[in-house]
Amino acid sequence: MRKITGIMVLLLSALWSSGCQRGRTHVEQENTIKIGISLYDHYDAFITQIVSVMEEEVKRKESETGTSIVLVIENAANSQIEQNSQIEDFINNGCDIICVNLVDRTDPSMIIDKAKSADIPVIFFNRELVEEDLERWDRLYYVGAVALESGIMQGQIVVKQYKEKGEKIDRNKDGILQYVMLEGEAGHQDSIMRTEYSVNTVIESGCQVEKLAYAIANWNRAQAKTKMLQWIEDMGDEIEVVFANNDEMALGAIDAYKMMEIEELPMIVGIDGTYAGLQAVEKGDMAGTVYNDGAGQAKAMIELSYSLAKGTKLPKEIELINEKYIRLPHKIVTIQNLKEFVQK
Ligand code: GAL
Repeated sequence: MRKITGIMVLLLSALWSSGCQRGRTHVEQENTIKIGISLYDHYDAFITQIVSVMEEEVKRKESETGTSIVLVIENAANSQIEQNSQIEDFINNGCDIICVNLVDRTDPSMIIDKAKSADIPVIFFNRELVEEDLERWDRLYYVGAVALESGIMQGQIVVKQYKEKGEKIDRNKDGILQYVMLEGEAGHQDSIMRTEYSVNTVIESGCQVEKLAYAIANWNRAQAKTKMLQWIEDMGDEIEVVFANNDEMALGAIDAYKMMEIEELPMIVGIDGTYAGLQAVEKGDMAGTVYNDGAGQAKAMIELSYSLAKGTKLPKEIELINEKYIRLPHKIVTIQNLKEFVQK
């Protein structure tokens, strides 16, 4: 009898404590949002900046709402297979929201299927999937920019400065801008649009251009430097403009000129407005850049995650286009308006 009573006490206390734990976990869960973030490559300078602003935004949102927000950040290191398995782990580990910086923007199927069957919303960012994929479920979102806008603005920087400085830029004075193009990544929406629209904008303004060379440098400073060193060797002063699909590659081009101890740089233009990119504009090494609002994108992702997890409205200043897209505008940055951006 005494033995049976003892067992019952044990059972009751086990039930009570598990019930309590469940209760506590529930309360904790109610007040905690867990966001899983998978990055295509955590060495990418622009992506690193987005993540650090997300971390700051989390602190701000926590103190604004009293909800604790946990970020679980993983690096897919350029492997879609690795990224797919990170998403599975996020689902198994109870993430409420998943943010994906796709490795292969044409291959989001597995991620969409898994998230959909677990009913966990996905915010894709920076690497844009095709619309048909985003339409596959109503809890899929995309946060980014308007790719072609950045290309157009980069072209406008070149046109404006060419009109102002004329022969200083057209070194051989043949009335044609000889240029080289450093491209980000094959198949990336930003590379495709920036490459095309930057040059088209210059042509449409009535300037004549001639492409001397182009190369893919994977958004990467060191790879761009290597390409540029080669081009300087081959073409030297013939190069009048360097279009770079992002600031890191523009910085790589500058590195190449500095390494060759060439003081007179051609017109070099970038895109992103990273901290290092803005510094190069300040020094006059870069003629200008286009601000890609990574900070705005980071804030939008945290706000959207919060609103999806809590079922609350998005702040007024964030527009959700077609219930799916948040797009932050670009801005031209040159020495004239640099101050606005350095303070950001
Ligand atoms: C672009 C950005 C690049 C690079 C790339 C990665 O928007 O301008 O610097 O970060 O995204 O997807």
